Amino acid sequence: MTPKPLTHRNAAPYRPLDWTGEYPPAFPKGSVPAHIAIVMDGNGRWANRQGLPRIEGHRAGEATILDIVAGAIQAGVKHLSLYAFSTENWTRSPDEVRFLMGFNREVLQRRRDQLNEWNVRVRWAGRRPRLWGSVINELQAAERLTAGNDGLTLTMCVNYGGRLEIVDAMRRLGEDIAAGKVKPSAISEKMIAKNLYVPDMPDVDLFLRSSGEQRTSNFLLWESAYAEMVFLDTLWPDFRRRHLWDAIGLYVSRDRRFGGAVDTPTAR
Ligand code: IPE
Ligand code: IPE
Ligand code: MG
Repeated sequence: MTPKPLTHRNAAPYRPLDWTGEYPPAFPKGSVPAHIAIVMDGNGRWANRQGLPRIEGHRAGEATILDIVAGAIQAGVKHLSLYAFSTENWTRSPDEVRFLMGFNREVLQRRRDQLNEWNVRVRWAGRRPRLWGSVINELQAAERLTAGNDGLTLTMCVNYGGRLEIVDAMRRLGEDIAAGKVKPSAISEKMIAKNLYVPDMPDVDLFLRSSGEQRTSNFLLWESAYAEMVFLDTLWPDFRRRHLWDAIGLYVSRDRRFGGAVDTPTAR
């Protein structure tokens, strides 16, 4: 893609996608996961291991986000969802929560022009209650700025929880039922999916987590029902596009059966 001319609105320095000089391996045609969801984990440990406060790990993770978005575009991924702040993260110290709120706002401010240059469409998945108004404003500004882009869809999951997403969908459906618009017997998987935060979000193909933890931590529960899980030990601030490509390589080598089966007895 050739960069758009710089205007006062997108005057941030433009970085080409391949500024690191790296290119993804040639994955077989059609094999790259359409939707990758990432639990960006390990910032606190990365910082503490160097004798730094946890927030320095979050700061260092900003560069990783940009590198991973670029690497995803290079690999031909269409949807990338990043877990930036969970509904459980409010239990952290007030200082860390305050830092993370301000940081999310600033990262969006600092990076939205670059993302726009890369033809990225930014979306927000999460709930409003408790989330700082200034963060919601930045998320919506990024959504507006990039609404016309048709490259990678980047869903920032901020104040997101998988169970609460389903609860919120149930509340909306419940209202429709109470208003007589929907019959309980008509409720289907499709109808529930349509009431999630981003109704047209496709199912997750590859669920990736950094830092070595092997759990979902309530991320995209409904959407990841049949996702392939990949857990890498690298901490998020050390995570780079080649780790993403390694994960895609593992995904490509998996046999996705979706409950089906093929009988192929081999003689010994
Ligand atoms: C992930 O890193 C970032 C957020 C949850 C916001 P952590 O802050 O969870 O870092 P660790 O897992 O404690 O090392
Ligand atoms: C999940 O990571 C949330 C985000 C990455 C935003 P956590 O570090 O909060 O999850 P747990 O506590 O290890 O389950
Ligand atoms: Mg963590």
